[in-house]
Amino acid sequence: IRHLSVAKPRILVARELTEDAMAALEKETRVDFIRTGIREVCPKDTMIRYLKESAPISGIILTLTEKVDQEILDAAGPSLKAISTMSVGYEHIPTPLLKERSIRLGYTPDVLTDAVAEIAVGLVLAACRKFRDAEEELRAGKWGAWNPTWMAGMGLTGKTVGIVGLGSCGVEVARRLVPFKVGRFVYQGTRPHADKERTLTPPGATFYSSLDEMLPLCDVLVITCALTPQTQGIINYGRLKLLPKGAVVVNVARGGIVVQPDLVRVVREGHLGGVGLDVMTPEPLPMDDELLRLPGMTLLPHLGSATRETREEMSQITINNAVNGVLGEPMPAELKL
Ligand code: DGY
Repeated sequence: IRHLSVAKPRILVARELTEDAMAALEKETRVDFIRTGIREVCPKDTMIRYLKESAPISGIILTLTEKVDQEILDAAGPSLKAISTMSVGYEHIPTPLLKERSIRLGYTPDVLTDAVAEIAVGLVLAACRKFRDAEEELRAGKWGAWNPTWMAGMGLTGKTVGIVGLGSCGVEVARRLVPFKVGRFVYQGTRPHADKERTLTPPGATFYSSLDEMLPLCDVLVITCALTPQTQGIINYGRLKLLPKGAVVVNVARGGIVVQPDLVRVVREGHLGGVGLDVMTPEPLPMDDELLRLPGMTLLPHLGSATRETREEMSQITINNAVNGVLGEPMPAELKL
């Protein structure tokens, strides 16, 4: 255990990040790190205990799984200058409370964009071409003689792909789908992105401010937007039914954007050609969840950013955000609150 100096700012590391990042952290001399040593989710009461017993704490390093609330902020008290999350998503952080208390927030955008885009493309292909159902049939010994219609899915050539939220992930998903000869892209969000549209031309991308107008055009719908109060539950029963019959839905953003019981209902009605989800509600998905009993579902356990390279970069940025945050220096990636 490193000797704690009185003068150095202290950063609580609520749970361990990657091994390399933890080794790098040990070399940082400008701050003291208090490590819980936890490799799984850090329970709230443990975090509060550390915050109190190791006070004053200037910074907290955490991940998506550690939900921050008023009680945690109160336990940290006025010494808390920065929170650094190893995630691009920050719905587990009460940003208005941080703003009120002038606590800075570091996060990890950009470095995971390529990894998430890869997972999205994988899910589009898997859902369109029925990878999961087909493999299940094969493993169950149901692979009979060649058949003209068995496991026939939907090709991407000439199809319209709709992207909800043409942010950095959205545009990278679309770019990766261009070589599959997609007919055109449509996207919905708060504003058009002329610069990103240009990179998708040909085949071209068209902005829609209204989801209801865009959805009837989409053979494939890929959800990549952030979960905010404005996007919570926007993909509901009525909207899913606006998609053409046989459309494929992929979500790599957050489960809360889709009303999951509505998705289940629409799949049961046979309206969709396939679904690929990297995110769902809740996570982890309970083994008795209906999603697991539906055909045509490719489900991944939130692996969007899960490449070794990406997780290493995310860990490093998280540490640098925290250190710079408590030292009052510019963070590599700070969210404007
Ligand atoms: C994030 O960073 O928000 C991803 O969902 C998990 O890596």
